[in-house]
Amino acid sequence: MNPAPFTEHDGLALPALVTDVPGPASVAAVDTLARHESPGITARRARQGEARGLGKDPIVWARATGGNVWDLDGNRFVDLTGAFGVALIGHGHPAVVAAVEDQARALLHGMGDVYPNAPRIELMARLAAIAPGDLSQCILAGGGAEAVEAALKTAALASGRPGVIAFSDSYHGLSYGALAATAYKDDFRRPFWQQLGRHVTHLPYGVDPAVLRALLRGPASGAGPIGAILVEPILGRGGQVVPPAGWLRALRDIADEHDLVLVFDEIYTGLGRTGAMWACDHDDVVPDVLCVGKALGGGLPVGACVATPAVMGAWGRSQGEAIHTATFLGNPVVAAASLAALDVLAALDAPARARAFEARVRARFGDDRVRGRGAMLGLALDSPGAAARVTGRLLKDGFIALPGGTHGDILGLTPPLVLSAAQEAAAWDAIDRAIAAETAHDGAAA
Ligand SMILES: Cc1ncc(COP(=O)(O)O)c(C=O)c1O
Repeated sequence: MNPAPFTEHDGLALPALVTDVPGPASVAAVDTLARHESPGITARRARQGEARGLGKDPIVWARATGGNVWDLDGNRFVDLTGAFGVALIGHGHPAVVAAVEDQARALLHGMGDVYPNAPRIELMARLAAIAPGDLSQCILAGGGAEAVEAALKTAALASGRPGVIAFSDSYHGLSYGALAATAYKDDFRRPFWQQLGRHVTHLPYGVDPAVLRALLRGPASGAGPIGAILVEPILGRGGQVVPPAGWLRALRDIADEHDLVLVFDEIYTGLGRTGAMWACDHDDVVPDVLCVGKALGGGLPVGACVATPAVMGAWGRSQGEAIHTATFLGNPVVAAASLAALDVLAALDAPARARAFEARVRARFGDDRVRGRGAMLGLALDSPGAAARVTGRLLKDGFIALPGGTHGDILGLTPPLVLSAAQEAAAWDAIDRAIAAETAHDGAAA
């Protein structure tokens, strides 16, 4: 399939234009939301916060295209988040929209593991073609957490051992299986702690490989029989942290020495975002299992776990009733959208665009402030919690950004790869202003 020429879509890139954030339509809709959504989900900031120019209700998204998002009040924003990194090719790419329309007319829903459908089959073949090494067998999933859980099940079957090594500040999703491995913030786990599997041992991200080797050699460590290592090759939500040089290679070596299954969670980093197709390509390391998600669906919910045939073979042949499946497994519309997104990513040369983005950001903000790689960057701010205030100010200026890092001191920059030069320039100026206001805030608080 030939994706629609990107320049047409890119031409839609418009500057931020906001009047009232959040405007009355968003506020009214959030009133309804507050009545009907679990209060634990969407943050409804205290209206008193408005007096300080901070802390308001969220805007309600109405439409989005390319690098722009519009809210219910008609305010136009520039998205510096890619909506959690999903909109790597831009929001609502015409090629994805067309693929969704066509597929929806043909076959809207398939039948999971029982009867496969053509886009689902093609997507798995395509993932095999782009995955590193000989990773060529897939389990599709409805999102990232589900892909991580499929990977952990696969690793348990392949190693025959239940224990998993994962790392501090890592984010692998919040459903029970994934949450057992997530160590992003204690708050996420504390209420459910008693219900989480005890098979995961967390070590510091970037831990000295000697410490890991010692743990694996010493059964007295209490870590149990370890069968897998699960790691983000660059921490995403944890604040765009690139591990020490050679660390991923050391994990590969350790996995080989101890016959462990090495799982890379590339849900955030994958598909070009870090300036290479996979973040593990930077280190020339190939895992046994790779988790993909976010940008893969071009905006539709999807995840995938891709493994070597040797590892995936541990599942054995399905005896008719698959022991791992779901009602919506390999949904044809999602698969068609994913195929279109992969076409666009290739046509864009996503890794090259991401590298160019990093170079521009480093030139503008300086290496001291910038962390991460490619279009997965963070700007380090000067105090814990500063990022939420900075993103609040940016929103009022028309820029959607997310705070990151476990101390809330990282301003995440994970935008679509299609921001125009004018959008970027305006964003950098707005960031300067928001950081300057933060410095003044710090000064006033001192
Ligand atoms: C590295 C990583 N893994 C897993 C997940 C979970 O994905 P989802 O939110 O689609 O379940 C995320 C989400 O941010 C992520 O960044």
